[in-house]
Amino acid sequence: TRVPALRFPTAADGSKYVAREIDKLVRARNAAGKPTVLGLATGSTPVGLYRELIRLHKEEGLDLSRVVTFNLDEYLPMPKEDAHSYFRWMHETFFNHVNIPWGNIHVPDGTLAAEDVDRFCADYEKRIRAAGGIDIQILGIGRTGHIGFNEPGSPRNSRTRMVTLDGITRRDAAPGFFGEENVPAQAITMGVASILDARRLFLMAYGEHKAGVVFKALEQPPTEAVSASFLQEHPDATVVLDDAAAAEL
Ligand code: GLP
Repeated sequence: TRVPALRFPTAADGSKYVAREIDKLVRARNAAGKPTVLGLATGSTPVGLYRELIRLHKEEGLDLSRVVTFNLDEYLPMPKEDAHSYFRWMHETFFNHVNIPWGNIHVPDGTLAAEDVDRFCADYEKRIRAAGGIDIQILGIGRTGHIGFNEPGSPRNSRTRMVTLDGITRRDAAPGFFGEENVPAQAITMGVASILDARRLFLMAYGEHKAGVVFKALEQPPTEAVSASFLQEHPDATVVLDDAAAAEL
């Protein structure tokens, strides 16, 4: 099946569209006294989305006190307070500016000892299920076609687990780490199957450097070589692009 791709003139317009969809769901759930479960992503792509959600919270009364969040991934090893941790980034970029209760926030733990990782990952899956499953999952896409840190070769049925990062991914992250040798070799990520379990998916991609991988993800048959291509097998996935990222479609 074809994943619907929505094209916007700018990244800000695309991000506002996704923010509005989240706003609508959260308000409907709040009115029913029910929680909303969001799957969240890091990277430069979702920054505009978080900015808009903060604005909706501060200026338009969007109450996030019933929201439960699960982040896709975290580097391993990675102390929570480290300048590069996704835990810290999520707090600085989003959580510190809205009213999601502390206890509702879940980010994979980058401080685990090797022998504790499997148990943590199984527990992360259980927590997602116990929360009722993810209502809306936000995704970016890496140059290797990864969603979360599901690098090429990640099986369609993969679950939350420890992974080894692709060389391209580490190179792309290097400028933020003062060099590739400082980028952690591993990460914990939700799996392809964990992501596809979400009821609704929004994958955002902005900029001409994403055009090639967006083409591969949307217009070639689903393959482990491009984990984002499995969105084609999801009944309610939407790809949100700016004109530059849509250039090869
Ligand atoms: C990292 C993150 C991904 C993200 C990707 C793209 O690898 N783990 O979740 O989608 O980078 O990053 P950016 O949005 O900065 O292009």
